[in-house]
Amino acid sequence: MINKKITKSLSDEIKIKAKISKIKIETPKGRPLLHWVNKHPLEYVTGFPTQLTEVFDPQKKDKFPETPKYNELEKNWHNLLFHGDNKEVLATLLEQGFRGKVDLIYIDPPFASNKDYMRKVELRGLKDLGRIEEDSESIIQQTMYEDIWKRDEYFQFMYERLILLKELLAETGSIYVHLDYRMVHYIKAFMDEIFGEDNFKNEITWRRQIPRGMKAHATFLPYSAEYILLYTKGGGAIWNQPIKINKLSIKEAEKKYMKDEKGFFRTSDPGTFSFEGLFDLYKRGKLYAPYNGKIIVDTKSKRIYTQKGNLGIKYYRKREGNFIVEETPVDNIWEDIPGLGVTPSEWLGYQTQKPEALLERIIKASSDSNHLVLDCFMGSGTTCAVAQKLGRRWIGVDVNKGAIQVTSKRLQKISKDKKEAKHPTFAVYKVNNYNLRILKTEAKELAIQQYGITKVKTDTFFDGLRDSGELVKVIDFNHPLTLLDLQLIVDELNKRPDEDRDVVVISLGRETKVDAWIEEWNKKQPYKDTRNKKRMRQFIVFDLKDKNFVSYEPSKADVEIKRVGKGKVKIKIVSFISPTIIKRLELEPGLLQKKIPDFRSMIDVVLVDTDYDGEVFKIGFSDVPEKQNDLVKGEYELEISEKPTKVAVKVIDMLGEEVMVTKEV
Ligand SMILES: C[S@@+](CC[C@H](N)C(=O)[O-])C[C@H]1O[C@@H](n2cnc3c(N)ncnc32)[C@H](O)[C@@H]1O
Repeated sequence: MINKKITKSLSDEIKIKAKISKIKIETPKGRPLLHWVNKHPLEYVTGFPTQLTEVFDPQKKDKFPETPKYNELEKNWHNLLFHGDNKEVLATLLEQGFRGKVDLIYIDPPFASNKDYMRKVELRGLKDLGRIEEDSESIIQQTMYEDIWKRDEYFQFMYERLILLKELLAETGSIYVHLDYRMVHYIKAFMDEIFGEDNFKNEITWRRQIPRGMKAHATFLPYSAEYILLYTKGGGAIWNQPIKINKLSIKEAEKKYMKDEKGFFRTSDPGTFSFEGLFDLYKRGKLYAPYNGKIIVDTKSKRIYTQKGNLGIKYYRKREGNFIVEETPVDNIWEDIPGLGVTPSEWLGYQTQKPEALLERIIKASSDSNHLVLDCFMGSGTTCAVAQKLGRRWIGVDVNKGAIQVTSKRLQKISKDKKEAKHPTFAVYKVNNYNLRILKTEAKELAIQQYGITKVKTDTFFDGLRDSGELVKVIDFNHPLTLLDLQLIVDELNKRPDEDRDVVVISLGRETKVDAWIEEWNKKQPYKDTRNKKRMRQFIVFDLKDKNFVSYEPSKADVEIKRVGKGKVKIKIVSFISPTIIKRLELEPGLLQKKIPDFRSMIDVVLVDTDYDGEVFKIGFSDVPEKQNDLVKGEYELEISEKPTKVAVKVIDMLGEEVMVTKEV
């Protein structure tokens, strides 16, 4: 067993230094309880520092908080895009006053489907030039997220996030959880436990596709459905019943409906209608007698009936020109929204992207104008895009830089197309410094190879095992090893009281206090074996800085920025090169010119801030080509202040990496 007292004093010290504030989280009390290995509730979470990295500011708000706090934002709202792990982001939102403030949550988490999702990244303009055919070289496979989970870990992962989401949801709020056959039954049991069985409102079956070709012959029937669980926080949740509108030609209507001089109608049984009610319908010609029979009204006995067959009430269909309009309430089988295989115009290359019509139905049903909508598995940003179009406020979160880029681009475009949009402004925040994720994953791979580490995908905390038996934790390479990182490892070890193995921590740099802390920790651990004086849970740091190890070459851009006349600036991207793209394409250096004759093929987006304050990039101008075959222009003339100002140009490549060039003009 570990020495609890020492652990406590060490962790207390660290907490003071790292300024951790604990946010209490309520333990679910509901039933039924699904159990799994290492199930534990969240007793508390800690918020993390946020860094404002980019703003899209068509309203010229100018002032953006470094940390978004609900009570400040409420008065002057801008939408929020977070780059980070959603557990950390949700905890941060709780810390910043968003508890109970979210009106609607939609999540489309990984399905535990045992495959890596790839985003196809195509270089721009190359199809037209016909240089690179089809997928072979122009498409770079960029892992968007890892979807390989051992079941227990997936459960714990989802459990924690659902608990946090409940805390953020308003009393009148609703949550939709999108899953498929693999996990829906388990997650429903969690939702019953966390949100309460009474708050289960429905399970929607969405027909994602119509089976064709090989699929239609699948053994034991093809999978065409996905499921969306709908829960509310409590009673009184917002609900606007969706109506399905179907337009039929007159010919089609003739097959389906009865007809009289007033139009097409169908009938239904009078059920519990009172005599007075029926009499009123009778006077208005809305009662129906089958077999051309007569309707008999007996006012004495207060009965209305027919000569032959049963009385019916006529429900007329609306006519619009040459069409008959059917309006039916939507039920829990949604077959009228095709998946994106069928509507490619929306397709942004994000494998798991959902159609906007699906989100439109959900957002309209469970929120009203100006309500706050949250999606913390945002992907290509479908929820945010639809929320924006429908005049809702939104928060999007994703751990993947590619998802942030795709969403940011998508939302800038919507605001430009739809000038009257409510709250068109949004700010991008990093939580716990996720900026160098692409670099990080690559460097992590290298480190793992270098030290002979076997990756353990089933452990959500540790990254692998060394051949010599130690647990391995690779610290994000975007920051040096800090006491907070060590505290997180200690917290994890505390959850595993039987763990006595040593821990190798791999980092790129370390804070000065780290060595002293580790020395003290190692000395205080109990003996594993008193004879050879070997203590358990020893921390060992491999600092890659000492080894000059990471050879990462960032993208380079040569950008000319010149003032022309008093209030204008001329910007020209003279050259751009992304060594990562070239490496991924596996191009020989000499082949580069032939394969990619125009460097703009590698550029996805160009953003300009004409009045850069040195900290927050405000997107004043953006060149976001709509089609894959269009290149960015690369040359711009923009208005600027007549006074000296700093111009910043951000060039984002097709992998989502950015280079920023600034100049005082
Ligand atoms: C199924 S996709 C969502 C697709 C989205 N509905 C759309 O229409 O594009 C799931 C997303 O969750 C993100 N994700 C997975 N784990 C995450 C985590 N811990 N924190 C934040 N995002 C995460 C992935 O990067 C991925 O983009």
